[in-house]
Amino acid sequence: MAFPNQQATVYNDTVVRQFAIMTVVWGVVGMLVGVIIAAQLAWPELNFGISFLSYGRLRPLHTNAVIFAFGGCGLFASAYYIVQRTCHVRLFGDKLASFTFWGWQLVILAAAISLPLGYTSGKEYAELEWPIDILITLVWVSFAIVFFGTVGTRKVKHIYVANWFFGAFIIAVAILHLVNSAAIPAGWMKSYSAYAGVQDAMVQWWYGHNAVGFFLTAGFLGMMYYFIPKQAERPVYSYRLSIVHFWALIFTYMWAGPHHLHYTALPDWTQSVGMVFSLILLAPSWGGMINGIMTLSGAWHKLRDDPILRFLIVSLSFYGMSTFEGPMMSIKTVNALSHYTDWTIGHVHSGALGWVGLVTMGSMYYLIPRLFGQKQMFSVKAIELHFWIATIGIVIYIAAMWIAGVMQGLMWRAINPDGTLTYTFVESVKATYPFYVLRLLGGLLYLGGMLIMLWNTLKTATAGRASSVTIPAAAAHA
Ligand code: HEM
Ligand code: HEM
Repeated sequence: MAFPNQQATVYNDTVVRQFAIMTVVWGVVGMLVGVIIAAQLAWPELNFGISFLSYGRLRPLHTNAVIFAFGGCGLFASAYYIVQRTCHVRLFGDKLASFTFWGWQLVILAAAISLPLGYTSGKEYAELEWPIDILITLVWVSFAIVFFGTVGTRKVKHIYVANWFFGAFIIAVAILHLVNSAAIPAGWMKSYSAYAGVQDAMVQWWYGHNAVGFFLTAGFLGMMYYFIPKQAERPVYSYRLSIVHFWALIFTYMWAGPHHLHYTALPDWTQSVGMVFSLILLAPSWGGMINGIMTLSGAWHKLRDDPILRFLIVSLSFYGMSTFEGPMMSIKTVNALSHYTDWTIGHVHSGALGWVGLVTMGSMYYLIPRLFGQKQMFSVKAIELHFWIATIGIVIYIAAMWIAGVMQGLMWRAINPDGTLTYTFVESVKATYPFYVLRLLGGLLYLGGMLIMLWNTLKTATAGRASSVTIPAAAAHA
């Protein structure tokens, strides 16, 4: 595509660099906590009788650290990098952008202190108490101003599709956060939800599912639409499909939340609406996956010797897997087996480790050398090694959870001819034990890969000159 504006633009890469480094750092921290809680499920005494280290407190610390710290910093870094390159203009509001970085780190720090202390609103993925929620709102509004301000002052007419996904992610997360976190304060670190009973549950899972759809999917699709074409040096397979993908995905996600509340007090028809929209969601999800993978058509050979491209493409394969599995699990009769079991945990981590993790790592491997004025990462062999141990780790993790989950579901529903239960609950826990140890092994491998990435990142950063990079605008478009 030709662009009229050929003059050089000095981008604000300071904030991108800060977020990129913290993506790697928080990745290590969040996954380390994941490994600790995985070990606690196999050996519960590993909490050493200390309340701060109890499973119930560390679990939300893990989910918040990996989703909002690791994933969040990766999304900020990519959105800021991509919007400048595709709009051919410097980031709007340097000071505000800097505030989003420091403000977001403060949110993470507040989470890392308050969750182990036991402060929680009790809403999954929205556990943080109201003063922290207010800080999140301030940072998010600033993020929106910086992002849309940059799009608004762009020097090209067209708004590249990656920005549509980032834009939807920013707006949707703002709405979700404001609605679901509405609460009446009852002290500095205590509040009561503004909703009651089944409405509270519905609002929470409307939030929860759209946190998956917009925080863990839409923004990462923005990364996919920029970094895959860049790394493959090929245009997006079908630009038309990317637009259909965008509108279909954001429309459908909003209605699927009730699949988290099957067989509950939620009206039956609402559960069925959730199930139907979840099944429909397969189509846009796979449309996007196919669009990303087919971008490689004519360049498949690059997968052989480009580990960054491998991260990006394999992430899409996991995206395809988890967005096939999700609609299946939303079918009520399947959910009757999978709900409450480790099958859900397997599904979560095929999406989280396979899709969110790998696409973020691939994107950071693309970004980090460029941000530090280097041609490539300090060690390409280390990227290769990271790719393999992460992939093997994911396969061990999710296979262990799938087997454990289906086994638990079948054991819980098994009935003797006289109507009594065949197995006690404890028997199912004992049968799960080996799979918890296997999952820990998978997690250790995945964490090991992240540690290699941290070493490689530090080596690249110290080798490079940390200065604002000047790139001819026209050369920087996907
Ligand atoms: C070393 C890597 C990781 C390990 C060992 C790990 C381990 C765990 C464990 C043990 C749980 C609790 C499961 C349970 O309660 O039965 C969990 C939950 C969870 N993890 Fe991870 N995790 C890892 C990485 C990640 C990443 C990178 C993400 C997201 C990007 C993630 C997202 C989640 C979520 C959303 C849950 C809650 C699932 C639910 O409530 O159904 N994890 N993880
Ligand atoms: C078409 C797309 C998808 C559909 C229809 C879908 C559907 C589902 C269903 C039915 C459940 C189980 C609910 C339950 O029994 O409690 C679930 C849980 C979950 N899924 Fe998905 N899924 C999809 C994609 C993804 C992706 C790509 C990710 C991650 C990146 C993901 C993350 C999660 C998480 C974190 C949970 C656990 C929520 C909780 O209980 O804490 N899903 N999903």
